[in-house]
Amino acid sequence: MSDEGGGSASLRVCNPNLELAEPAGGSYFVSTYPPFSAWSGAGGREWRHRLDTPRSKPSSVPLGLYVHIPFCVDRCHYCYYLSHDDRLDDLDRYIRALESELELHARTPALGGRELDFVYFGGGTPSLLSAARIERLMSALQDVWSWHSTREVSFECAPRSTTTKKLEALRDWGVTRISLGAQQMNDEVLRANGRVHLTADVEAAYRDIREVGFAVVNVDLIVGLVGETDETFDSSLERIVELEPDSVTIYQLEIPLNTPLWSSLQHGEVPTIASWATKRDRLRRAFDRLERAGYAQASAYAAVRDPERHRFLYQIEQYHGADLLGIGASAFSHIDGFNQQNLPDLGEYLERVEDREPPLFRVYESTPEECMIREFVLQLKLGRVERAYFAEKFGIDLERRFATPLSDLEARGWLGVDDDHVTVTREGLLRVDRMLQSFYLPEHRGIRYS
Ligand SMILES: C[S@@+](CC[C@H](N)C(=O)[O-])C[C@H]1O[C@@H](n2cnc3c(N)ncnc32)[C@H](O)[C@@H]1O
Ligand code: SF4
Repeated sequence: MSDEGGGSASLRVCNPNLELAEPAGGSYFVSTYPPFSAWSGAGGREWRHRLDTPRSKPSSVPLGLYVHIPFCVDRCHYCYYLSHDDRLDDLDRYIRALESELELHARTPALGGRELDFVYFGGGTPSLLSAARIERLMSALQDVWSWHSTREVSFECAPRSTTTKKLEALRDWGVTRISLGAQQMNDEVLRANGRVHLTADVEAAYRDIREVGFAVVNVDLIVGLVGETDETFDSSLERIVELEPDSVTIYQLEIPLNTPLWSSLQHGEVPTIASWATKRDRLRRAFDRLERAGYAQASAYAAVRDPERHRFLYQIEQYHGADLLGIGASAFSHIDGFNQQNLPDLGEYLERVEDREPPLFRVYESTPEECMIREFVLQLKLGRVERAYFAEKFGIDLERRFATPLSDLEARGWLGVDDDHVTVTREGLLRVDRMLQSFYLPEHRGIRYS
């Protein structure tokens, strides 16, 4: 496996302190700040205190709910998400635990009485739940916390696990956005990466989803999978463009160290895999192709048909400081600057919730400055950051606060600063997760992500 690394001599001359080289293995995608490895097992008492303290005035900050479903039919070789393919007997017990966990939070003074703005079901594979279990889960959650003012309810689906009956149940319980994990449209590549579905399954699932009818349908792809070539990737994208989804999300393959793919690479059991430079080339071409087909780039990873109608609220609201309550094993929450992650071990999670105890794993209380950095780096992933928003909300001038990294990255052609905005260029977006470290506090640069 080769890695171009971004750390060429000319880059190092710009700023020797920037951590811009991409890792051969390890996590790459940034979903929060500070990195999870800075969170700590202590702090549970402060977290409970935060939830037990009534807000002095009603919060205008949007609140979202994330529900983690940690089950899959089989594990894909590259996947690092918490999920089990050998614990399907625990499904009913798990659904009861989700309901109990939500009850614990719904009664707290900090959250009780607030409306949910958006809901996201992620996994794992939420669509492997049967129609009956979907009904039970949705009705249990909505009994505890009404969804009458939610603006978006997203649900992740894997091909082969969707049926018309399940999709109708989802639509009837208020799901507005389906995200279908195609990953690639080439059967050999799908098999080589341990996917349980083939190309025909993606097309069948997509047809059913459209027939049942949802406001937004997104398709996920990964660039850089084992066995992929320029040709297989480009033709995969062509097939997706023909389907005309509302949104196409393309992730660059990352290879966390706890994945079977990483072990296979270490043992020389897998042929060469695309370098970061190759992934960027393919992705650059993909966004050009999507633009020619009428899509507009909405973030570093996604292109949408209609930027107004296909806004992805779960992402946009979180990137603008919304509160998020995560339930389920390993789910994480961000409430009023306080970050918390649930226990990742399924057995421990179930036992703790069954004892009516919060299943706390690790916690981090952010300072106001860390909240500002979190929002800034996350908003950079959307391609454009409003300077006035940061002046008003945090009382800072972005150009002055981040003068050195901004001018370094501008010199590389990865972003631009004008009177109103910091705008990330296409080249910047192609490597945005690595670039974000330049804005971290020194103690968080170069540390493990998770
Ligand atoms: C939880 S999975 C999606 C739902 C469903 N389980 C599936 O795989 O179709 C969320 C998305 O993360 C992306 N993903 C998973 N592992 C990845 C990796 N190692 N590198 C990049 N993207 C990854 C995939 O595109 C996947 O659709
Ligand atoms: S990529 Fe999706 S289906 Fe594959 S193991 Fe991960 S969560 Fe499960």
